[in-house]
Amino acid sequence: MDASFLVEAVYLLSATLFVVGLKRLQSPATARAGNAIAAFAMLLAVLATVVDAEILSWTGILVGMVLGSVIGGFAARRVEMTSMPQLVGIFNGFGGAASALVSVTEFVSNPNVGVSTAGVAILLGTLIGGVTFSGSFIAFAKLQELMTGNPITFPGQNLFNAFLVIVVLGFATAALGLVGALEPLTAFYIFCAIAVVLGVLIVIPIGGADMPVVISLLNSYSGLAASAAGFVIGNMVLIVSGALVGAAGLILTQLMCKGMNRSLANVAFGGFGGSAKVDRAQIGKRPVRRADAEAVAAELGYVNSVVVVPGYGLAVAQAQHELRKVGDLLEARGVDVKYAIHPVAGRMPGHMNVLLAEADVSYDKLFDLDEINDDFSNTDAVLIVGANDVVNPASRDPQSVIAGMPILDVDKARRVIVMKRSLSPGFAGIDNDLFYMDNTLMFFGDAKDAMADLVREVRELA
Ligand code: TAP
Repeated sequence: MDASFLVEAVYLLSATLFVVGLKRLQSPATARAGNAIAAFAMLLAVLATVVDAEILSWTGILVGMVLGSVIGGFAARRVEMTSMPQLVGIFNGFGGAASALVSVTEFVSNPNVGVSTAGVAILLGTLIGGVTFSGSFIAFAKLQELMTGNPITFPGQNLFNAFLVIVVLGFATAALGLVGALEPLTAFYIFCAIAVVLGVLIVIPIGGADMPVVISLLNSYSGLAASAAGFVIGNMVLIVSGALVGAAGLILTQLMCKGMNRSLANVAFGGFGGSAKVDRAQIGKRPVRRADAEAVAAELGYVNSVVVVPGYGLAVAQAQHELRKVGDLLEARGVDVKYAIHPVAGRMPGHMNVLLAEADVSYDKLFDLDEINDDFSNTDAVLIVGANDVVNPASRDPQSVIAGMPILDVDKARRVIVMKRSLSPGFAGIDNDLFYMDNTLMFFGDAKDAMADLVREVRELA
Protein backbone atom coordinates (compact mmCIF):
# COMPACT_ATOMS: atom_id res chain seq x y z
CA MET A 1 0.00 0.00 0.00
CA ASP A 2 1.16 3.53 -0.77
CA ALA A 3 2.82 5.04 2.33
CA SER A 4 1.28 8.47 1.85
CA PHE A 5 -2.18 6.87 1.62
CA LEU A 6 -1.51 5.14 4.93
CA VAL A 7 -0.42 8.38 6.58
CA GLU A 8 -3.53 10.19 5.31
CA ALA A 9 -5.67 7.33 6.66
CA VAL A 10 -4.02 7.63 10.10
CA TYR A 11 -4.61 11.40 9.99
CA LEU A 12 -8.27 10.84 9.20
CA LEU A 13 -8.55 8.38 12.07
CA SER A 14 -6.85 10.89 14.41
CA ALA A 15 -9.15 13.71 13.34
CA THR A 16 -12.20 11.48 13.90
CA LEU A 17 -10.92 10.48 17.34
CA PHE A 18 -10.37 14.16 18.23
CA VAL A 19 -14.05 14.82 17.55
CA VAL A 20 -15.10 11.73 19.55
CA GLY A 21 -12.81 12.83 22.42
CA LEU A 22 -14.21 16.38 22.39
CA LYS A 23 -17.76 15.07 22.39
CA ARG A 24 -16.98 12.95 25.45
CA LEU A 25 -15.68 16.01 27.32
CA GLN A 26 -19.31 17.17 27.50
CA SER A 27 -20.03 15.22 30.66
CA PRO A 28 -17.85 14.63 33.73
CA ALA A 29 -18.80 10.96 33.56
CA THR A 30 -17.16 10.49 30.14
CA ALA A 31 -14.56 13.28 30.26
CA ARG A 32 -11.62 11.12 31.39
CA ALA A 33 -12.19 8.69 28.53
CA GLY A 34 -12.59 11.63 26.12
CA ASN A 35 -9.27 13.05 27.23
CA ALA A 36 -7.55 9.68 26.82
CA ILE A 37 -9.04 9.19 23.34
CA ALA A 38 -7.90 12.65 22.19
CA ALA A 39 -4.41 12.07 23.65
CA PHE A 40 -4.18 8.72 21.84
CA ALA A 41 -5.28 10.42 18.61
CA MET A 42 -2.51 12.98 19.06
CA LEU A 43 0.03 10.20 19.61
CA LEU A 44 -1.10 8.54 16.36
CA ALA A 45 -0.82 11.81 14.45
CA VAL A 46 2.62 12.60 15.83
CA LEU A 47 3.91 9.11 15.07
CA ALA A 48 2.53 9.15 11.53
CA THR A 49 4.14 12.53 10.89
CA VAL A 50 7.61 11.79 12.24
CA VAL A 51 7.77 8.40 10.59
CA ASP A 52 6.45 9.70 7.27
CA ALA A 53 8.64 12.77 7.12
CA GLU A 54 11.71 10.75 8.12
CA ILE A 55 12.94 13.77 10.04
CA LEU A 56 14.07 11.77 13.04
CA SER A 57 15.55 8.40 13.84
CA TRP A 58 13.54 6.05 16.04
CA THR A 59 15.92 6.84 18.91
CA GLY A 60 15.24 10.54 18.48
CA ILE A 61 11.49 9.95 18.43
CA LEU A 62 11.59 7.78 21.54
CA VAL A 63 13.83 10.17 23.50
CA GLY A 64 11.56 13.09 22.55
CA MET A 65 8.41 11.23 23.53
CA VAL A 66 9.76 10.04 26.87
CA LEU A 67 11.12 13.50 27.74
CA GLY A 68 7.87 15.23 26.73
CA SER A 69 5.71 12.73 28.59
CA VAL A 70 7.79 12.98 31.78
CA ILE A 71 7.75 16.80 31.78
CA GLY A 72 4.01 16.94 30.92
CA GLY A 73 3.08 14.23 33.43
CA PHE A 74 5.17 15.81 36.17
CA ALA A 75 3.69 19.28 35.55
CA ALA A 76 0.11 17.98 35.44
CA ARG A 77 0.51 15.89 38.62
CA ARG A 78 2.26 18.59 40.64
CA VAL A 79 0.06 21.53 39.74
CA GLU A 80 -2.53 22.67 42.27
CA MET A 81 -6.11 22.70 41.01
CA THR A 82 -6.23 26.48 41.59
CA SER A 83 -3.10 26.90 39.40
CA MET A 84 -4.58 25.05 36.43
CA PRO A 85 -5.29 28.22 34.39
CA GLN A 86 -1.59 29.16 34.40
CA LEU A 87 -0.55 25.65 33.36
CA VAL A 88 -2.98 25.81 30.44
CA GLY A 89 -1.60 29.30 29.74
CA ILE A 90 1.95 27.96 29.43
CA PHE A 91 0.84 25.08 27.21
CA ASN A 92 -0.94 27.60 24.95
CA GLY A 93 2.23 29.68 24.83
CA PHE A 94 4.32 26.72 23.69
CA GLY A 95 1.61 25.76 21.17
CA GLY A 96 1.64 29.27 19.72
CA ALA A 97 5.46 29.30 19.61
CA ALA A 98 5.57 25.91 17.85
CA SER A 99 3.09 27.04 15.17
CA ALA A 100 4.91 30.34 14.71
CA LEU A 101 8.26 28.51 14.34
CA VAL A 102 6.83 26.24 11.63
CA SER A 103 5.70 29.31 9.70
CA VAL A 104 8.97 31.18 10.30
CA THR A 105 11.02 28.22 9.05
CA GLU A 106 8.95 28.04 5.88
CA PHE A 107 9.35 31.75 5.20
CA VAL A 108 13.09 31.76 5.86
CA SER A 109 13.55 28.83 3.47
CA ASN A 110 11.58 30.67 0.78
CA PRO A 111 11.50 34.46 1.42
CA ASN A 112 10.09 35.14 -2.04
CA VAL A 113 6.89 33.20 -1.44
CA GLY A 114 4.95 36.35 -2.42
CA VAL A 115 1.18 36.77 -2.50
CA SER A 116 -0.07 33.21 -2.42
CA THR A 117 -2.07 30.90 -0.17
CA ALA A 118 1.20 29.73 1.39
CA GLY A 119 2.44 33.30 1.88
CA VAL A 120 -0.76 34.46 3.59
CA ALA A 121 -0.91 31.28 5.73
CA ILE A 122 2.72 31.79 6.82
CA LEU A 123 2.07 35.37 7.89
CA LEU A 124 -1.15 34.42 9.71
CA GLY A 125 0.57 31.52 11.48
CA THR A 126 3.46 33.76 12.54
CA LEU A 127 1.25 36.63 13.68
CA ILE A 128 -1.29 34.56 15.64
CA GLY A 129 1.40 32.22 16.97
CA GLY A 130 3.62 35.12 18.06
CA VAL A 131 0.75 36.95 19.80
CA THR A 132 -0.31 33.71 21.51
CA PHE A 133 3.25 32.98 22.64
CA SER A 134 4.01 36.30 24.33
CA GLY A 135 0.40 36.91 25.47
CA SER A 136 0.22 33.50 27.15
CA PHE A 137 3.48 33.99 29.01
CA ILE A 138 2.32 37.39 30.30
CA ALA A 139 -0.98 35.75 31.39
CA PHE A 140 1.06 33.03 33.14
CA ALA A 141 3.28 35.61 34.87
CA LYS A 142 0.23 37.55 36.08
CA LEU A 143 -1.51 34.48 37.49
CA GLN A 144 1.69 33.12 39.04
CA GLU A 145 2.25 36.57 40.58
CA LEU A 146 5.65 36.86 38.89
CA MET A 147 4.45 40.31 37.86
CA THR A 148 1.65 42.55 39.09
CA GLY A 149 -1.84 41.16 38.48
CA ASN A 150 -3.20 44.70 38.21
CA PRO A 151 -3.99 46.13 34.80
CA ILE A 152 -0.94 47.90 33.35
CA THR A 153 -2.18 50.86 31.36
CA PHE A 154 -0.79 54.02 29.81
CA PRO A 155 -2.50 56.96 28.12
CA GLY A 156 -3.58 56.28 24.55
CA GLN A 157 -2.96 52.54 24.94
CA ASN A 158 -5.80 51.33 22.72
CA LEU A 159 -4.87 53.87 20.05
CA PHE A 160 -1.23 52.77 20.20
CA ASN A 161 -2.26 49.10 19.86
CA ALA A 162 -4.46 49.95 16.87
CA PHE A 163 -1.49 51.81 15.34
CA LEU A 164 0.74 48.76 15.87
CA VAL A 165 -1.82 46.56 14.11
CA ILE A 166 -1.65 48.88 11.08
CA VAL A 167 2.17 48.84 11.22
CA VAL A 168 2.26 45.04 11.40
CA LEU A 169 -0.05 44.86 8.36
CA GLY A 170 2.32 47.23 6.56
CA PHE A 171 5.29 44.93 7.20
CA ALA A 172 3.15 41.97 6.14
CA THR A 173 2.64 43.53 2.71
CA ALA A 174 6.38 44.21 2.49
CA ALA A 175 7.16 40.60 3.45
CA LEU A 176 4.88 39.46 0.63
CA GLY A 177 6.87 41.66 -1.78
CA LEU A 178 4.02 44.10 -2.41
CA VAL A 179 6.08 47.06 -1.16
CA GLY A 180 9.54 47.13 -2.66
CA ALA A 181 11.22 49.42 -0.10
CA LEU A 182 12.37 46.52 2.11
CA GLU A 183 13.78 43.07 1.48
CA PRO A 184 10.98 40.55 2.20
CA LEU A 185 13.14 38.74 4.79
CA THR A 186 13.99 41.98 6.65
CA ALA A 187 10.32 43.00 6.63
CA PHE A 188 9.39 39.53 7.89
CA TYR A 189 11.78 39.70 10.86
CA ILE A 190 10.35 43.09 11.90
CA PHE A 191 6.85 41.63 11.41
CA CYS A 192 7.75 38.76 13.83
CA ALA A 193 9.09 41.16 16.47
CA ILE A 194 5.95 43.32 16.34
CA ALA A 195 3.73 40.23 16.63
CA VAL A 196 5.48 39.29 19.89
CA VAL A 197 5.24 42.88 21.22
CA LEU A 198 1.52 42.96 20.31
CA GLY A 199 0.88 39.85 22.41
CA VAL A 200 2.43 41.59 25.43
CA LEU A 201 0.53 44.83 24.86
CA ILE A 202 -2.82 43.10 24.40
CA VAL A 203 -2.59 41.19 27.68
CA ILE A 204 -0.94 43.68 30.11
CA PRO A 205 -4.01 45.94 30.48
CA ILE A 206 -6.17 43.01 31.59
CA GLY A 207 -6.47 42.37 35.33
CA GLY A 208 -5.15 39.09 36.78
CA ALA A 209 -8.60 37.97 37.86
CA ASP A 210 -9.86 38.13 34.26
CA MET A 211 -6.96 35.98 33.07
CA PRO A 212 -8.93 32.70 32.85
CA VAL A 213 -11.09 34.28 30.13
CA VAL A 214 -7.98 35.58 28.37
CA ILE A 215 -6.32 32.17 28.61
CA SER A 216 -9.36 30.54 27.06
CA LEU A 217 -9.19 33.09 24.23
CA LEU A 218 -5.44 32.52 23.77
CA ASN A 219 -6.18 28.79 23.71
CA SER A 220 -8.44 29.48 20.76
CA TYR A 221 -5.67 31.56 19.11
CA SER A 222 -3.17 28.73 19.58
CA GLY A 223 -5.58 26.49 17.65
CA LEU A 224 -5.93 29.04 14.85
CA ALA A 225 -2.13 29.38 14.68
CA ALA A 226 -1.79 25.59 14.44
CA SER A 227 -4.41 25.51 11.70
CA ALA A 228 -2.53 28.18 9.75
CA ALA A 229 0.70 26.18 10.22
CA GLY A 230 -1.21 23.18 8.85
CA PHE A 231 -1.96 25.13 5.66
CA VAL A 232 1.69 26.18 5.44
CA ILE A 233 3.06 22.65 5.45
CA GLY A 234 -0.02 21.00 3.89
CA ASN A 235 -0.75 18.87 6.96
CA MET A 236 -4.40 17.88 7.15
CA VAL A 237 -4.46 16.74 10.78
CA LEU A 238 -2.89 20.01 11.94
CA ILE A 239 -5.54 22.00 10.06
CA VAL A 240 -8.39 19.95 11.57
CA SER A 241 -7.07 19.76 15.14
CA GLY A 242 -6.16 23.45 15.08
CA ALA A 243 -9.64 24.36 13.89
CA LEU A 244 -11.19 22.21 16.62
CA VAL A 245 -9.08 23.90 19.32
CA GLY A 246 -9.85 27.30 17.80
CA ALA A 247 -13.61 26.70 17.82
CA ALA A 248 -13.68 25.02 21.25
CA GLY A 249 -11.65 27.84 22.81
CA LEU A 250 -13.93 30.45 21.30
CA ILE A 251 -17.08 28.68 22.52
CA LEU A 252 -15.62 28.34 26.01
CA THR A 253 -14.66 32.03 26.06
CA GLN A 254 -18.20 32.92 25.04
CA LEU A 255 -19.70 30.70 27.75
CA MET A 256 -17.48 32.28 30.41
CA CYS A 257 -18.45 35.78 29.27
CA LYS A 258 -22.13 34.78 29.27
CA GLY A 259 -21.80 33.32 32.79
CA MET A 260 -20.50 36.71 33.95
CA ASN A 261 -22.85 38.65 31.66
CA ARG A 262 -19.89 40.55 30.24
CA SER A 263 -18.86 41.14 26.69
CA LEU A 264 -15.45 40.07 25.48
CA ALA A 265 -14.70 43.76 24.85
CA ASN A 266 -15.49 44.49 28.49
CA VAL A 267 -13.02 41.81 29.62
CA ALA A 268 -10.37 43.06 27.20
CA PHE A 269 -10.73 46.79 27.77
CA GLY A 270 -12.17 47.27 31.27
CA GLY A 271 -12.06 45.23 34.47
CA PHE A 272 -14.89 44.40 36.83
CA GLY A 273 -15.95 47.47 38.79
CA GLY A 274 -13.60 49.58 36.71
CA SER A 275 -16.20 52.18 35.89
CA ALA A 276 -19.00 51.45 38.38
CA LYS A 277 -19.20 53.29 41.68
CA VAL A 278 -18.72 50.79 44.50
CA ASP A 279 -18.65 52.19 48.03
CA ARG A 280 -16.07 49.83 49.47
CA ALA A 281 -16.11 51.52 52.89
CA GLN A 282 -19.69 50.32 53.38
CA ILE A 283 -19.01 46.65 52.59
CA GLY A 284 -19.79 44.31 55.48
CA LYS A 285 -20.92 47.09 57.85
CA ARG A 286 -24.52 45.89 58.38
CA PRO A 287 -25.52 43.48 61.15
CA VAL A 288 -25.87 39.77 60.33
CA ARG A 289 -27.21 36.68 62.11
CA ARG A 290 -24.42 34.30 63.06
CA ALA A 291 -24.59 30.58 63.62
CA ASP A 292 -22.00 28.10 64.85
CA ALA A 293 -21.48 24.53 63.61
CA GLU A 294 -23.93 23.13 66.16
CA ALA A 295 -26.72 25.49 65.08
CA VAL A 296 -26.02 24.86 61.40
CA ALA A 297 -26.13 21.08 61.95
CA ALA A 298 -29.54 21.48 63.56
CA GLU A 299 -30.75 23.62 60.63
CA LEU A 300 -29.64 21.02 58.08
CA GLY A 301 -30.19 17.75 59.90
CA TYR A 302 -33.94 17.91 60.43
CA VAL A 303 -35.15 19.08 57.00
CA ASN A 304 -36.16 17.27 53.80
CA SER A 305 -34.06 19.05 51.21
CA VAL A 306 -30.68 20.76 51.19
CA VAL A 307 -28.94 22.31 48.20
CA VAL A 308 -25.19 22.87 48.52
CA VAL A 309 -23.65 25.75 46.55
CA PRO A 310 -19.87 25.47 46.27
CA GLY A 311 -17.71 28.44 45.27
CA TYR A 312 -14.15 29.67 44.99
CA GLY A 313 -13.57 29.52 48.78
CA LEU A 314 -14.17 25.75 48.75
CA ALA A 315 -11.31 25.40 46.27
CA VAL A 316 -9.02 27.71 48.25
CA ALA A 317 -9.65 25.79 51.48
CA GLN A 318 -9.59 22.38 49.75
CA ALA A 319 -12.66 21.53 51.80
CA GLN A 320 -14.32 19.29 49.22
CA HIS A 321 -13.70 16.04 51.11
CA GLU A 322 -15.15 17.41 54.35
CA LEU A 323 -18.09 18.83 52.42
CA ARG A 324 -18.82 15.44 50.93
CA LYS A 325 -18.81 13.90 54.40
CA VAL A 326 -21.44 16.47 55.45
CA GLY A 327 -23.53 15.53 52.38
CA ASP A 328 -23.21 11.81 53.09
CA LEU A 329 -24.19 12.22 56.74
CA LEU A 330 -27.23 14.30 55.84
CA GLU A 331 -28.29 11.74 53.24
CA ALA A 332 -27.93 8.99 55.80
CA ARG A 333 -30.46 10.96 57.86
CA GLY A 334 -32.89 10.94 54.94
CA VAL A 335 -32.20 14.48 53.70
CA ASP A 336 -32.31 14.95 49.91
CA VAL A 337 -28.94 16.60 49.11
CA LYS A 338 -28.17 18.24 45.76
CA TYR A 339 -25.24 20.35 44.57
CA ALA A 340 -25.90 23.47 42.48
CA ILE A 341 -23.14 24.34 40.01
CA HIS A 342 -22.87 27.86 38.64
CA PRO A 343 -21.04 28.03 35.28
CA VAL A 344 -18.45 30.53 36.55
CA ALA A 345 -18.19 29.49 40.20
CA GLY A 346 -14.52 29.33 41.16
CA ARG A 347 -11.89 30.63 38.79
CA MET A 348 -11.93 28.31 35.80
CA PRO A 349 -14.50 26.46 33.75
CA GLY A 350 -15.66 23.26 35.45
CA HIS A 351 -13.76 24.19 38.64
CA MET A 352 -16.52 22.99 40.98
CA ASN A 353 -17.21 19.83 38.95
CA VAL A 354 -13.56 18.86 39.22
CA LEU A 355 -13.42 19.58 42.97
CA LEU A 356 -16.54 17.56 43.72
CA ALA A 357 -15.42 14.74 41.43
CA GLU A 358 -12.15 14.67 43.38
CA ALA A 359 -14.22 14.06 46.52
CA ASP A 360 -16.25 11.37 44.73
CA VAL A 361 -19.55 13.23 44.86
CA SER A 362 -21.74 11.36 42.41
CA TYR A 363 -22.37 13.25 39.13
CA ASP A 364 -26.11 12.69 39.29
CA LYS A 365 -26.25 14.93 42.39
CA LEU A 366 -24.75 17.86 40.48
CA PHE A 367 -27.19 20.27 38.84
CA ASP A 368 -26.49 23.18 36.52
CA LEU A 369 -27.95 26.62 37.14
CA ASP A 370 -30.73 26.16 34.58
CA GLU A 371 -31.68 22.76 35.97
CA ILE A 372 -31.93 23.79 39.61
CA ASN A 373 -32.94 27.44 39.74
CA ASP A 374 -36.68 26.71 39.81
CA ASP A 375 -36.21 24.30 42.75
CA PHE A 376 -34.94 26.83 45.28
CA SER A 377 -38.42 28.06 46.26
CA ASN A 378 -39.19 24.47 47.34
CA THR A 379 -35.87 23.92 49.11
CA ASP A 380 -35.68 23.83 52.90
CA ALA A 381 -32.09 24.92 53.29
CA VAL A 382 -29.19 26.07 51.13
CA LEU A 383 -25.61 25.64 52.32
CA ILE A 384 -23.27 28.03 50.48
CA VAL A 385 -19.61 27.16 50.91
CA GLY A 386 -17.11 29.82 49.83
CA ALA A 387 -19.37 31.23 47.10
CA ASN A 388 -20.32 34.88 46.88
CA ASP A 389 -20.86 36.54 43.48
CA VAL A 390 -22.70 33.56 42.00
CA VAL A 391 -25.44 33.96 44.64
CA ASN A 392 -25.49 37.76 44.83
CA PRO A 393 -29.03 39.13 44.25
CA ALA A 394 -27.40 42.45 43.27
CA SER A 395 -27.29 41.05 39.75
CA ARG A 396 -31.03 41.82 39.55
CA ASP A 397 -30.26 45.53 40.10
CA PRO A 398 -29.60 47.22 36.75
CA GLN A 399 -27.20 49.67 38.47
CA SER A 400 -24.95 46.92 39.86
CA VAL A 401 -21.55 46.03 38.39
CA ILE A 402 -22.82 42.45 38.07
CA ALA A 403 -26.21 43.51 36.61
CA GLY A 404 -27.65 40.74 34.49
CA MET A 405 -25.16 38.08 35.57
CA PRO A 406 -27.16 34.86 35.95
CA ILE A 407 -27.18 33.81 39.62
CA LEU A 408 -28.39 30.85 41.64
CA ASP A 409 -31.66 32.06 43.21
CA VAL A 410 -30.72 30.80 46.69
CA ASP A 411 -32.52 33.68 48.42
CA LYS A 412 -35.80 31.96 47.52
CA ALA A 413 -35.03 28.99 49.79
CA ARG A 414 -36.59 28.85 53.27
CA ARG A 415 -33.20 28.98 55.03
CA VAL A 416 -29.87 30.20 53.68
CA ILE A 417 -26.58 29.36 55.38
CA VAL A 418 -23.51 31.16 54.11
CA MET A 419 -20.15 29.67 55.04
CA LYS A 420 -17.11 31.93 54.55
CA ARG A 421 -14.45 33.60 56.66
CA SER A 422 -15.84 37.14 56.81
CA LEU A 423 -18.17 39.56 55.04
CA SER A 424 -15.45 40.32 52.49
CA PRO A 425 -16.51 40.56 48.87
CA GLY A 426 -15.67 38.02 46.20
CA PHE A 427 -14.19 38.47 42.75
CA ALA A 428 -16.54 41.31 41.72
CA GLY A 429 -15.58 43.38 44.79
CA ILE A 430 -19.12 44.21 45.88
CA ASP A 431 -21.26 43.64 48.97
CA ASN A 432 -23.86 40.88 48.99
CA ASP A 433 -27.37 41.64 50.29
CA LEU A 434 -27.91 37.93 50.78
CA PHE A 435 -25.78 38.02 53.93
CA TYR A 436 -28.17 40.47 55.63
CA MET A 437 -31.48 38.82 54.77
CA ASP A 438 -33.85 37.60 57.52
CA ASN A 439 -33.60 33.98 56.47
CA THR A 440 -29.78 33.99 56.20
CA LEU A 441 -27.37 32.66 58.82
CA MET A 442 -23.65 33.44 58.53
CA PHE A 443 -21.40 30.52 59.47
CA PHE A 444 -17.93 32.09 59.70
CA GLY A 445 -14.63 30.25 59.41
CA ASP A 446 -12.20 28.64 57.03
CA ALA A 447 -14.20 26.21 54.89
CA LYS A 448 -12.07 23.18 55.77
CA ASP A 449 -12.26 23.71 59.54
CA ALA A 450 -15.91 24.72 59.41
CA MET A 451 -16.89 21.65 57.38
CA ALA A 452 -14.91 19.41 59.77
CA ASP A 453 -16.80 20.97 62.71
CA LEU A 454 -20.05 20.47 60.86
CA VAL A 455 -19.28 16.80 60.24
CA ARG A 456 -18.79 16.34 64.00
CA GLU A 457 -21.98 18.19 64.87
CA VAL A 458 -24.17 16.39 62.32
CA ARG A 459 -22.86 13.06 63.69
CA GLU A 460 -23.98 14.10 67.16
CA LEU A 461 -27.53 14.93 66.10
CA ALA A 462 -30.21 12.71 67.56
P1 TAP B 1 -16.29 34.68 44.73
O1 TAP B 1 -17.43 35.57 44.43
O2 TAP B 1 -14.95 35.07 44.25
O3 TAP B 1 -16.28 34.52 46.34
C1 TAP B 1 -15.49 33.59 46.96
C2 TAP B 1 -15.64 33.76 48.44
O4 TAP B 1 -14.92 32.70 49.05
C3 TAP B 1 -15.06 35.05 48.98
O5 TAP B 1 -16.06 36.01 49.22
C4 TAP B 1 -14.30 34.61 50.24
O6 TAP B 1 -14.87 35.27 51.37
C5 TAP B 1 -14.56 33.12 50.33
N1 TAP B 1 -13.36 32.38 50.73
C6 TAP B 1 -12.09 32.53 50.31
N2 TAP B 1 -11.27 31.69 50.95
C7 TAP B 1 -12.05 30.98 51.79
C8 TAP B 1 -11.78 29.95 52.73
N3 TAP B 1 -10.54 29.49 52.94
N4 TAP B 1 -12.82 29.43 53.42
C9 TAP B 1 -14.07 29.89 53.24
N5 TAP B 1 -14.37 30.87 52.36
C10 TAP B 1 -13.37 31.40 51.66
O7 TAP B 1 -16.54 33.19 44.25
P2 TAP B 1 -17.74 32.55 43.42
O8 TAP B 1 -19.05 32.84 44.08
O9 TAP B 1 -17.32 31.16 43.18
O10 TAP B 1 -17.76 33.38 42.07
C11 TAP B 1 -16.74 33.28 41.12
C12 TAP B 1 -16.36 34.65 40.63
O11 TAP B 1 -15.18 34.52 39.82
C13 TAP B 1 -17.43 35.26 39.76
O12 TAP B 1 -17.47 36.67 39.95
C14 TAP B 1 -16.93 34.95 38.35
O13 TAP B 1 -17.41 35.87 37.40
C15 TAP B 1 -15.43 35.08 38.54
N6 TAP B 1 -14.65 34.35 37.52
C16 TAP B 1 -14.92 33.05 37.29
C17 TAP B 1 -14.25 32.37 36.31
C18 TAP B 1 -14.61 30.95 36.04
S1 TAP B 1 -14.48 30.39 34.57
N7 TAP B 1 -15.07 30.18 36.99
C19 TAP B 1 -13.23 32.99 35.57
C20 TAP B 1 -12.93 34.34 35.88
C21 TAP B 1 -13.67 35.00 36.86
P3 TAP B 1 -14.01 35.46 52.71
O14 TAP B 1 -12.78 36.18 52.33
O15 TAP B 1 -14.93 36.24 53.60
O16 TAP B 1 -13.76 34.09 53.24
